Amino acid sequence: MQPSDKALVPFVSVDNMMRLIHHIGVERMITEIAAQIEDDFKRWESFDKTPRIPAHSPHGVIELMPTSDGEAYGFKYVNGHPKNTSEGLQTVTAFGLLADVYTGYPTLLTEMTMLTALRTAATSALVGKYLAPKNASTMAMIGNGAQSEFQCLAFKAMCGIDTVRLYDIDPAATAKCAANLQGTGLNVVSCRSAEEAIEGAQIITTCTADKKYATILTDNMVGPGVHINAIGGDCPGKTELHRDILLRSDIFVEYPEQTRIEGEIQALDPDHPVTEMWQVITGQAEGRRDERQITLFDSVGFAIEDFSALRYVKRAIEGTEFFEPLDMLADPDDPRDLFGMLMRAK
Ligand SMILES: NC(=O)c1ccc[n+]([C@@H]2O[C@H](COP(=O)([O-])OP(=O)(O)OC[C@H]3O[C@@H](n4cnc5c(N)ncnc54)[C@H](O)[C@@H]3O)[C@@H](O)[C@H]2O)c1
Repeated sequence: MQPSDKALVPFVSVDNMMRLIHHIGVERMITEIAAQIEDDFKRWESFDKTPRIPAHSPHGVIELMPTSDGEAYGFKYVNGHPKNTSEGLQTVTAFGLLADVYTGYPTLLTEMTMLTALRTAATSALVGKYLAPKNASTMAMIGNGAQSEFQCLAFKAMCGIDTVRLYDIDPAATAKCAANLQGTGLNVVSCRSAEEAIEGAQIITTCTADKKYATILTDNMVGPGVHINAIGGDCPGKTELHRDILLRSDIFVEYPEQTRIEGEIQALDPDHPVTEMWQVITGQAEGRRDERQITLFDSVGFAIEDFSALRYVKRAIEGTEFFEPLDMLADPDDPRDLFGMLMRAK
């Protein structure tokens, strides 16, 4: 039986997502997603917001990240399993869905493993635009796994970074990242310790995966004036920075209700002051004030960023071949005759 038009939902496979990204260009797509996130952060108050819903296990975490602006609804399914890479699997995989609030019908189903890497990098560089020191040219990239090249390219495209200094406890990851960044226009320096990686860097990105309280940066490693983009601490019991760094930094977050559970600031008192990025973006709160201030983006990843990325993709695939219509919604001729539809399909 041929499905009707109402049954079909545009589906973007991994293959089509990769074709779309190449069609648009990695740096341009990151920059455009960042612009969409910036627009959506400017209308922060119009969104339904809730900390994401996690299911923890000894193996990792599986999370649902929903939000709505009253017209569209979106959610992402995402996992975090740091042990996976040793089994040939990724730490983070994801897919997501957008729906029309008026009918409740899904309007897009898409892979989001690639898209999460783009949106995380887009968010980091967007925040970097507001908080990183002026004329920053060098970024330390600690943790050279799946997200790392996307982070480097985002800071190149949006914050004018020309040099990245790479470090990972696994030299093979650094070699992979360095090889992937060849020909991108970035100067790439491979380092043998985190201390070496942060030498001369105005921006420090930590993007490691470990299911524990790790100390990727100690207090003495962080000098005045730097911007820290802390990506990897994003779960209860999983952080990257020594607590003393937090106490010397001005801390910026996406959604405090979620970050206090999941971010670096889980190590601080529940009322420790933090600034919400949407307020910086709308001019209601101050970003970087002076050259000696240490700014810290305690990133955990928030549902509105995924919603922005989903809406971007929905627009970007219109009139293209970068999706397939998926027979996903039962559409009986008489809406109440679902059973009859089943019987006629015999
Ligand atoms: N904030 C967000 O929005 C967001 C989005 C996506 C992923 N993440 C998080 O970012 C982290 C990285 O994700 P990924 O997909 O790149 O993971 P990945 O497993 O592909 O890479 C992580 C890398 O960190 C390295 N590493 C582990 N401990 C280290 C240490 N002590 N020093 C230096 N390197 C170390 C590993 O060797 C690995 O190469 C994860 O913790 C993930 O949960 C956050």
